[in-house]
Amino acid sequence: MALATLTARPGQALRGVVRAPGDKSISHRALILGAMATGVTEIEGLLEGDDVVATAEAMKSFGADVERAGDGRWRVTGRGGFKEPANVVDCGNAGTGVRLIMGAAAGFAISATFTGDSSLRKRPMMRVLAPLADMGAEFICREGGRLPLTLQGGGLKGISYRLPMASAQVKSAVLLAGLHAEGDVAVIEPEPTRDHTERMLRAFGATVEVDDGPAGRVILLAAGQTLTGTQVRVPGDPSSAAFPLAAALITPGSEVTVEGVLLNPLRAGIFQTWREMGADLTITNERGASGEPVGDVTARFSKLTGVEVPPERAPSMIDEYPILAATAAFAEGRTLMRGIGEMRVKESDRIALMAAGLEACGAIVEEEPEGMIVTGRPDVRGGATVETHGDHRIAMSHLVLGLAAASPVTVDEPGMIATSFPGFVALMRGLGAQLA
Ligand code: S3P
Repeated sequence: MALATLTARPGQALRGVVRAPGDKSISHRALILGAMATGVTEIEGLLEGDDVVATAEAMKSFGADVERAGDGRWRVTGRGGFKEPANVVDCGNAGTGVRLIMGAAAGFAISATFTGDSSLRKRPMMRVLAPLADMGAEFICREGGRLPLTLQGGGLKGISYRLPMASAQVKSAVLLAGLHAEGDVAVIEPEPTRDHTERMLRAFGATVEVDDGPAGRVILLAAGQTLTGTQVRVPGDPSSAAFPLAAALITPGSEVTVEGVLLNPLRAGIFQTWREMGADLTITNERGASGEPVGDVTARFSKLTGVEVPPERAPSMIDEYPILAATAAFAEGRTLMRGIGEMRVKESDRIALMAAGLEACGAIVEEEPEGMIVTGRPDVRGGATVETHGDHRIAMSHLVLGLAAASPVTVDEPGMIATSFPGFVALMRGLGAQLA
C-alpha cells in the first residue's frame, strides 16, 4: 500500500558507510544508447528507480530486448534502429527519459506518442521539439508544448544549434537525433552542462569533438556514425548521495561515508559549495568507472556559514539546490542562490516549494524570480507538514531537515521518492535516522 505521509524525527547522530544508488542521468542514457546500438550492452549498477524503469519499458516498445539479469544488472540488445511503438509511450515522471527518447526517436521514420504523469504533463517540451523540428521532425502537441504529444521522425538534416538555456537534456536530444541525420550536428552551450551523453557516445564507438571557444562549448557529432553495444558500469548518483551527506553535515556528532559517488566536475558543484560553507567533506579512493571519475565521499557534522553561490555554477548542481537550501537553513547568515530560474520547471516549481517548506520550518526565505536567499540559524524549528507536489527531491530535502530540526517534519506523497532513490528510507534508517 502506498504511504500517505512520511515523518522525520530529530534523534541521534548518523553514522555509517553506504553506497549511493546508480546515477539517474547515466542510467537513462545507458538504456537509450544500448537500444539505439547494434548488439548487446551489459549494464551494471543501473538505478532501478521508477523513472529509469519507465525508460527500460519505453526501449522495449521501440523494439530493443531489455532484460533484468540481477540486482542492477541489465542487458539491452539493440537493433541499430527504432521500430514504431504499438502504443503510447508513458515516461512516468521522467523529464530526462522523455526528452532524450524523443531525440532518439526523431531520427527514425516512425511516429510515436509520448505521455507522462501529471507533473511531466505540465513540463515544457518545446525546448526539445524546436530544434528537432528545425532538423525536420514533425509534431503535434498540447498547448505550450506539453505532453501528450506525437512525434513523426525521419529524414533529418544536420543542425548547428545554440542552446537557449543550460540544459543537458536538450543538448542530448539534439545529439541523439543527430546520429540519424544526413549532415553534421553541432550543439553550442553558453555554459557547459553534464556531459554524460558525450562520454557515453564515445564508449559506444562514436567520435564526439568538444571545443571550448569564446562563444561557449561546441560539441560536434559528424554524420554517419554507428553505435556498437558495450559494457557500462553506472557510478553512484551524487544527486542522491547529497541527501545522506547533508544529513550528516547538519546532525551533531554525525559521520557518513557514501562510496562510489560520481565526481564528474559538471555534477560536483554541491560539494564545492558545501566546502565554501565550512563543511567537513573528504573524498578518498578516487578512481574511474566507464569513463567517469568516481570516489568515496565522507561528511562530518560541521558548523556551516552562508555563502553566495556563483550563478555560473548552477548547471553543475541544478538538482542539488533543494538540499543546499535545506542545509542553508542551518547555516549562520545568508545563502544566496541566483541564476536558478530553471528550478521552476523541474518536477515542480522548486524555488516556490522550497521557499514555502523552509518558511513553514522556521527559516527565513526571500524568493526571487530566478533565485532565493535563505537566512539560516543552527537551531531550526521544523515542526511542519510540507506539500511536495509529488517532487522526490522536495520530499527528501525536507525529511533531511527534519532529522536535525527541533521538531519532526512530515512530507506528503513520499512514494514519489522511488522515482530516483527507491532505497532512501532503508538507507537513512541504516545510518540511524528516525523515519516513519
Ligand atoms: C539531466 C539534466 C538536468 C537535470 C535532470 C537530469 C540529464 O535537466 O535537472 O535531473 O540527465 O540530462 P535539464 O537538462 O533540464 O537542465
